[in-house]
Amino acid sequence: MSVRRLVVANWKMNKTAAETAEYLDIFLAQLPSLPSDVEIVLAPPFTSIARAASKIKGFGVRLGAQTMHWELRGAYTGEISAPMLLEFGVSHVILGHSERRAYCDETDRTVNLKVHTALQQGIVPIVAVGETLAQRRAGITDDHVVAQTKAAFDGVSAGALPGVVIAYEPIWAIGTGENCDPVEANRVMATIRSSLQGLDETPILYGGSMNTDNVGAYAAQPDINGGLIGGASLDPNGFAQLIRSAAVSP
Ligand code: PGA
Repeated sequence: MSVRRLVVANWKMNKTAAETAEYLDIFLAQLPSLPSDVEIVLAPPFTSIARAASKIKGFGVRLGAQTMHWELRGAYTGEISAPMLLEFGVSHVILGHSERRAYCDETDRTVNLKVHTALQQGIVPIVAVGETLAQRRAGITDDHVVAQTKAAFDGVSAGALPGVVIAYEPIWAIGTGENCDPVEANRVMATIRSSLQGLDETPILYGGSMNTDNVGAYAAQPDINGGLIGGASLDPNGFAQLIRSAAVSP
């Protein structure tokens, strides 16, 4: 059985709407040279979503958000809801990114609430899990990521799990240039996959200093179905090259 493959660009707090338009002019021109069997999801900041949505129309590239609220509307100053995202054709949402867990009070509980809302609303949740360096050194990586995975999907039926995406992102590897060894990443990801019934066909992505040079080694691993890419997605030519390299699995 082959699991579908995805490459997700997480721009974080980068690019104005004007910069997004410039990026897409360059990136979309390269689409004909990119592998057709890799799904591409771009997750720009909220303020760039409208511009990105009109630019990518008809190109087969998917649009993601970097977070959302679990309620559909109401008195939640500063928040964005699923219907607001759906209006612009957003199909994916990153939930539980370690930066949001660290700086914005995202917890296993809020991730779980958001996963349920996303699935009810027809948005694919991309749930990020991963250990700190201290947790890795303490030998509790597997326990931690399995606990995060179980908490995120608590109450979700096994039948719904092929429709979600998980991203394994060791926190110590994010934005540091110190990527996790692909064989070790694959081992942790296989552990995540076997932690719940229903994850056999769920794409599990690696994230953390993935780049054009190392993406091929990840793509060659059996339990790695793509990448969640931060820094290396910010340059349109570099990101296109990374996607090309992702297809080159021995
Ligand atoms: P990075 O970020 O590729 O810059 O390490 C990945 C992420 O945080 O999703």
